[in-house]
Amino acid sequence: MSEPRTIYLKDYQPPAYWIDTVSLKFVLDDHDTRVQATLSVRHNPAREVGLPLRLYGVDLTLKAIALDGQPLEEGRDYRIEGETLDVLSVAEQFELTTEVSIDPAANTALEGLYRSSSMFCTQCEPEGFRRITWYPDHPDVMAAYTVTVVGDRASLPVLLSNGNPIESGDLPNNRHYVTWQDPFPKPSYLFALVAGNLEKREDHFITQSGRKVTLQIWVEKQDLNKTEFAMGALKRAMRWDEDTYGREYDLDLFMIVAVSDFNMGAMENKGLNIFNSAAVLANPETATDAAFQRIEGIIAHEYFHNWSGDRVTCRDWFQLALKEGLTVFRDQSFSADINSAPVKRIQDVNFLRTHQFAEDAGPTAHPVRPESFIEISNFYTLTIYEKGAELVRMLKHLLGPGDYRKGTDLYFSRFDGQAVRVEDFIDSLAEAGNRDLTQFMRWYSQAGTPMLEVSDEYDEGAQRYRLTVRQHTPATPGQPAESKQPLHIPLRLGLLSEQGEALSLVIEGKALGTDTVVELRDAEHSFVFENVASRPVPSLLRGFSAPVQLQYDHSPAALALLMKHDEDGFNRWDAGQQLMRRAIESAMRAIQQQQAPELDPLLADVVGTLVSTPSDDYAVLAEMLTLPSEQYVAGFQQRIDVDAIHQARNFVRQALGDTFYAEFLALYRQQQSDAPYVPEFKQIAQRAIKNVALSYLCASGRDEGLALAKQQFDADANMTDVRAAMTLLVHSDNSELADHAVKRFGEQWGHDSLVMDAWFGIQVTRPQPDVLERVKFLMQHPAFSLKNPNKVRALVGAFATNRVNFHRIDGEGYRLLADVVIELNRLNPEIAARMIVPLTRYQRFDEQRQQLMREQLERIRREPLSRNLFEIVEKALAAG
Ligand code: BES
Ligand code: ZN
Repeated sequence: MSEPRTIYLKDYQPPAYWIDTVSLKFVLDDHDTRVQATLSVRHNPAREVGLPLRLYGVDLTLKAIALDGQPLEEGRDYRIEGETLDVLSVAEQFELTTEVSIDPAANTALEGLYRSSSMFCTQCEPEGFRRITWYPDHPDVMAAYTVTVVGDRASLPVLLSNGNPIESGDLPNNRHYVTWQDPFPKPSYLFALVAGNLEKREDHFITQSGRKVTLQIWVEKQDLNKTEFAMGALKRAMRWDEDTYGREYDLDLFMIVAVSDFNMGAMENKGLNIFNSAAVLANPETATDAAFQRIEGIIAHEYFHNWSGDRVTCRDWFQLALKEGLTVFRDQSFSADINSAPVKRIQDVNFLRTHQFAEDAGPTAHPVRPESFIEISNFYTLTIYEKGAELVRMLKHLLGPGDYRKGTDLYFSRFDGQAVRVEDFIDSLAEAGNRDLTQFMRWYSQAGTPMLEVSDEYDEGAQRYRLTVRQHTPATPGQPAESKQPLHIPLRLGLLSEQGEALSLVIEGKALGTDTVVELRDAEHSFVFENVASRPVPSLLRGFSAPVQLQYDHSPAALALLMKHDEDGFNRWDAGQQLMRRAIESAMRAIQQQQAPELDPLLADVVGTLVSTPSDDYAVLAEMLTLPSEQYVAGFQQRIDVDAIHQARNFVRQALGDTFYAEFLALYRQQQSDAPYVPEFKQIAQRAIKNVALSYLCASGRDEGLALAKQQFDADANMTDVRAAMTLLVHSDNSELADHAVKRFGEQWGHDSLVMDAWFGIQVTRPQPDVLERVKFLMQHPAFSLKNPNKVRALVGAFATNRVNFHRIDGEGYRLLADVVIELNRLNPEIAARMIVPLTRYQRFDEQRQQLMREQLERIRREPLSRNLFEIVEKALAAG
């Protein structure tokens, strides 16, 4: 395996040569696919003359190489060293032709060209194109592609690539070919090819300027009945991008292909998006509400990349958040607009605070624009994606919607067809909004979650209320605390009276309404509110206006007041979460001292009000009634006590379920419906609240709760209700009901691979202590395969989220994960590097667990490692 080398942003140099056109010919074969490439090459006048042309290649067998038709000789005309090939002494302009042989059937890394069930497909981002042909495989080299695909007519009737088909025909030996041309110059990471026995759903979209675009979703025949929803989502996304960003689709054809073996969710290849089947296929029998919503978001995300990524792309991979952060923000806004904005915001923030904050606090913490990497595939992280999206959201709020739109228009028009940097985006916004965003750029270079410490003082005589906000960012690897600088932070806030009324805000004589944004720039800042008649309750960081950790000591009564009265829906939810977290923490302390925990009466009071007051938004109510996860709670502990958190959270759930049994039962009954299933918002909300109620009924410990779950499971109305009920049964202590659910679901869905992923996941997340054995047993199940990333995530990935069992004190959970990672290291380095992450987060566990986790990391370290795993393991061990 290759010697790991660190790449630095500061070393960036523009390429010495541009590629104007690429012509590729693929002759497909399982083990000997031939790829002929013709590159028209031109010297970049910005660079010295006489430099070699540097190409990259991995696992290629070179069959021929020629310059302007003249065969080249190794050693004299070109040199191969590791993954590079340098063509020496070339002219200003020339044509380079190569032919290589590749082995798609042996490609288990799922990067480059590989086989997945009956088809050939590609994944080139970030550096997969070099596994297809020798090429200057960096995103700043953009070229126009013409691609001919040759394959067996019977087994590969469909041959796809980017752009438009321009020619096709039959060939000898039962073969045929199709030639595709993509008129838009693109970086190599957006290249795609698919060949297989596929069928399509076709539809059309008329763009805002009246052009007719053909839309196709290509799948294996048995999956055609799972494509309708995705097609609808695609059309909604196309319309939304026109309405909201003024972005129109540019080609006459837009294709989506579903493949079953895929490292990520989906990929935005120009005109030919390739999707993990789990991220596109759904019908009411097989998919849950959550799956439908996720699919809608991913379809939109990849489509939106057509502008934020494809038309305007990244200069280098350090700029990854330029396309991913912006596009995640765009898909979040889309989902908020077409479903429920408050619920979407709650879910996104909950996800960010649970997972991205944990990344920021761990050994692989990095800025939204990293300064260096060993393996770029390791940087498709929550920080790049989710924090990156939060930065764009802050920018939109700083500018206001009008200027933000002017800024994005300027960005897309000024940089169309170019490969650019984060600065180019920020400068466009700054120019359009006439704002100075210099300080804001620090958000891109400084890692870690900023802390905002808020204190206040009320002066009754002067009727003044002073808020003081201090910001600091803790140390992260490579960035000591002293190096951190103050950030430009929009802090949205309001004040409530003790009766819960919204107060009119006045600062320096200026009336600001009941909701305002103050901008922090210094390490410390004070704001004085005037005409405040009595001590107010501050509502801070409304809508989660910045990705920071806010520290303000609200009294429990103040939290209850906010939960009931805050005009900001997000902060109502957040106040409830804080109350719940404190209730869990106090139960935890009792458990640790071997005392009987008690339910916080204030929490009981607010939950009582919530469950017995008719609601006009059941989706939000379902979120309000959901306890913070064990992992989220753990994020606040200096020393994580896995078992105590688990028991404490269960205690609070049980106590609430028991205290409000009658109310939850009424809520559950009231939300029954026999309307035919549609994954639409009103119904989704109804099912969400119904299943939250059911979970409390089961948690109460009364047999009737589980009986209702069994009834719901057996009724088999739709996958959302079945899976919710199944989870409650399988995670209960009633082994008879648990076995019944596992057996019946397995028999019913054994033929459907995507549904079986849920079957694996539910079993390995149960808290009962037999789980480790069950994971090992299920790894032998015929439906499981280490070569399929969805299966690995569904079984092993899900097991690693099982707090009490993964963190077993005998270390066997860690050993099992390490065993899998060692095998995956040989099969699929990208997936191996993702799966190992839970083992790297050892710092805040007890000594014994830390020791056990480190032992497994060291054991992995002794293997011959891929670059991917090497980088993560090194960073993890260095942090101890
Ligand atoms: N460009 C990525 C896909 C990708 C990432 C390919 C890393 C290769 C390596 C794509 O646009 C993406 O971000 N997909 C996400 C889903 C999205 C909704 C955030 C994914 O695959 O998880
Ligand atoms: Zn993306």
